[in-house]
Amino acid sequence: MSTLIDIESSVQSKTSVMRREPTFNKGGSYQFIIGKNLGLHREAIATSIEIVSKFLSSLPKTKKTLNVLDLACGASPVIIAEVMNHFSNYSFEYTGIDINPDQVATCRKFSFPKNVIKKEVIEENAWNLEEHSLKDKVDLVFIGLNTHHGTPEEISFLAKQIFSQLNKGGVFLNHDLFRPEKYPYLRRPKKGLPKNDWRDEWLSGYKSFLKTQGQSEDLAEQGIDHMRNWDYPISMEEMRTILVKIGFRVSTHSYTNPNHPFSNFYGMVVGYKV
Ligand SMILES: C[S@@+](CC[C@H](N)C(=O)[O-])C[C@H]1O[C@@H](n2cnc3c(N)ncnc32)[C@H](O)[C@@H]1O
Repeated sequence: MSTLIDIESSVQSKTSVMRREPTFNKGGSYQFIIGKNLGLHREAIATSIEIVSKFLSSLPKTKKTLNVLDLACGASPVIIAEVMNHFSNYSFEYTGIDINPDQVATCRKFSFPKNVIKKEVIEENAWNLEEHSLKDKVDLVFIGLNTHHGTPEEISFLAKQIFSQLNKGGVFLNHDLFRPEKYPYLRRPKKGLPKNDWRDEWLSGYKSFLKTQGQSEDLAEQGIDHMRNWDYPISMEEMRTILVKIGFRVSTHSYTNPNHPFSNFYGMVVGYKV
């Protein structure tokens, strides 16, 4: 079947360039980002725990096992793992999906908490769930630092599939890079880089920040190169509008971290299938 995503993009398709993006591979710049909390993983953990706690209290007392789907899980799915670990009186069945074979191989060896009673990590495109038939509906969908690559149409396409994959009452947590409203939306070009790009200033500031945190010039440039080529974030309000149109009830959560000069670019948008 031909899909919008196949037609539109080489980023969210089966043959995505993300399959081999060096920043995510072993020795790439991304592990440093996680280790130093430069992707605001700690803030995402705290926010997710708050949301999931409310969600669990809405469940029937007899429901003690939850199905979790982690899209674009990466090699170290630390956010959702910490969340599952926090709720030690529940069990979790975890499915992670990532397109990059290196990430999948490492994630399969990741030390998940003991209450994860079943785990599967699939090497696949996470942006079209129709391409691989997930057997069961899920209670929680998490996606971390990935939707900022998509156009609004691609995000809507994915979010519709997430909505169908969720059980009624289920929750979709999206921790991501969101564009502050003061910048205009910049659409990912089909080829090359856009002209009049407000991101130049942001990316050069980000690179300096990475270096003050101790990242080498080479790895900092590798990360910035990835961002320059693939990061075209929508805003939290634009994400809210997309999810509301699909039928989600939505809450948005900004983060503040005085040690991170770009913490206003990060946040969590949560969709509730009520
Ligand atoms: C920035 S990392 C985020 C990893 C993890 N979710 C986190 O929050 O730290 C993005 C991940 O998305 C994966 N990815 C990118 N495009 C994808 C796609 N179309 N399908 C599945 N995974 C994808 C990459 O391989 C990479 O592991």
